[in-house]
Amino acid sequence: MTGVICGTGACVPERILDNNEVAEFVDTSDQWIRERTGVEQRRIAREETTVSMAAEAGRQAVEEAGISPEDIDMIITATATPDQIFPCTACEVQKELGAVRAVCFDMNAACSGFLFAYQTAQAYIASGICRNILITGSERLSGIVDWKDRGTCILFGDGAGAALIRAKEGKQYLPFACSDGTGGPALTCPGYAGKQDGDQKVISHISMDGREVFQFAVRRVPEAVREVLKKNDLKTEDIDWFVLHQANQRIVEAAAKRLKTEIEKFPMNLQKYGNTSSASIPILLNELNRSGKLKKGQKLILAGFGAGLSWGASVLEWGI
Ligand code: UT7
Repeated sequence: MTGVICGTGACVPERILDNNEVAEFVDTSDQWIRERTGVEQRRIAREETTVSMAAEAGRQAVEEAGISPEDIDMIITATATPDQIFPCTACEVQKELGAVRAVCFDMNAACSGFLFAYQTAQAYIASGICRNILITGSERLSGIVDWKDRGTCILFGDGAGAALIRAKEGKQYLPFACSDGTGGPALTCPGYAGKQDGDQKVISHISMDGREVFQFAVRRVPEAVREVLKKNDLKTEDIDWFVLHQANQRIVEAAAKRLKTEIEKFPMNLQKYGNTSSASIPILLNELNRSGKLKKGQKLILAGFGAGLSWGASVLEWGI
């Protein structure tokens, strides 16, 4: 038994903040941000919340899968920026969708969150416990970004993505995932109080050693891809698309180079959204799906990395 993605969705805030606007409040430039990161603009939540974006993305995924919300057995929301500590985001999404039978919980593994949620969903399906699982990655990072720190505020954006995974007879690919808590200080956000009466009450901000995180990603992402290929007796040539966490164009390019694979197989949309943490992989997946680029039977690798430190990769066969 394996899990096949049979619906995707995404929701990003309406408000676009481009690099020139960012350069109005920190000492940077559109050229610097583009050259060092590839980011051109990002979306910033106003009315939108972590729950509202996750619910909208989830609704689209459920609709495309052609199932009813009552058929969903489990909802996992990956987020590091919940609107509140509890009830968890996934329970709020359940309420919005009317997924009355679902067991719901959140998962915080920062930018690796969606990948780990995907791997968790596969484990529940492989064990026979669940048949239909909705996973969402949703972030309102603008609430924890230090808008005075040019080293971090240029990178991040808000948004959500979702995938509906359904049980099907077939090959269960083995996942690869790793964590190293000793690397934690490279990327931290010590405290977060979430949304209160429409305002984000922030009690601390993202703090990052950009160079260290960059080097970690460039080393670990290709390593994770090679590990997951080895575990599943596959070669890089067998993979049609490498869907990497969208943090920095140079990280994606470096990974492609180290894997000796053409960059065309590494789609990117970070130009439009910046780094949306746990939402970046499902937003990109939805874009590829809805634009018809993904063909049934193609093999994809999803690879995530981020705070923790944590990283990993999964192979999947496209099923829509
Ligand atoms: O989801 C995972 C989360 N994080 C990441 O993936 C981040 C990974 N790291 C990065 O993407 C990059 O390290 C950054 C984009 C954050 C920074 O790029 P960099 O090429 O590593 O720059 P740097 O930190 O080494 O700084 C180089 C210079 C410094 O000036 P000096 O000391 O050489 O005079 C910085 O002060 O660039 C300066 N700088 C900036 N200049 C203009 C740093 N940020 C900016 C800025 N605009 N926004």
